[in-house]
Amino acid sequence: MAGSFITFEGGEGAGKSTQIERLKSRLERLSHPVLVTREPGGSPRAEQIRSFILEGQAKQFGPFAEALLFAAARIDHLDKTIEPALRRGTHVLSDRFADSTRAYQGSLGNVDSGLIDGLERVALKGTRPDLTFILDLPAEVGLSRAGQRRASKGEGVDRFEQEDLSFHQSLRQAFLAIARSSPRRCAVINADRSADEVEEAVWAIIGERLPRLTTNPARPLDVA
Ligand SMILES: Nc1ncnc2c1ncn2[C@@H]1O[C@H](COP(=O)(O)OP(=O)(O)O)[C@@H](O)[C@H]1O
Ligand SMILES: [Mg+2]
Repeated sequence: MAGSFITFEGGEGAGKSTQIERLKSRLERLSHPVLVTREPGGSPRAEQIRSFILEGQAKQFGPFAEALLFAAARIDHLDKTIEPALRRGTHVLSDRFADSTRAYQGSLGNVDSGLIDGLERVALKGTRPDLTFILDLPAEVGLSRAGQRRASKGEGVDRFEQEDLSFHQSLRQAFLAIARSSPRRCAVINADRSADEVEEAVWAIIGERLPRLTTNPARPLDVA
């Protein structure tokens, strides 16, 4: 059976990386094969485009060209990483995916939503996430968490982390609008609470929407 494709979206510091690792562990404890990937990037060619974008070199071309670069990276990411994994029955957890392009370049960059729809159609060719978690929290909280993480790791800010608070507030609204327009695919999770509480909320949604993931595939009759 094909794997499930799950994406995590939300602003900086929302807890995407943290929750992906936790969900991966839970699924692996149940003997599910899991692949963790990320955007931009996720395949060797797409990682080259990632560096170009996040180092800020694409910004000068404007948001539409940035959206094109993200779409180009996504085509390779799907072709080389995501689709082969899903076909062999591996569940794929992606740290950001197409909704980030719609939020950052579409809503915040004012790229027309019809153009974003068109880019999604050509890049995704029908491969949509089965489930998308929108990790939602006040922009201040996310930025402060991301700042602490960078300080502890000695990292600099990237192209999007450089933007100001109002940018990140609008970003939050853009993700909430995506969730409203795709309620069957998206689940909004309150991420302004402990990582343990967020993990439980994520797992509860998995139980509702993708219940086969909460049982051991080798022992399907077990009660989880
Ligand atoms: N629920 C939480 N409460 C407090 N701190 C958190 C929580 N989730 C993650 N963090 C911390 O906040 C920082 C950003 O989390 P991270 O998972 O890297 O976010 P993202 O990948 O969405 O940018 C990390 O240092 C992480 O340990
Ligand atoms: Mg992260």
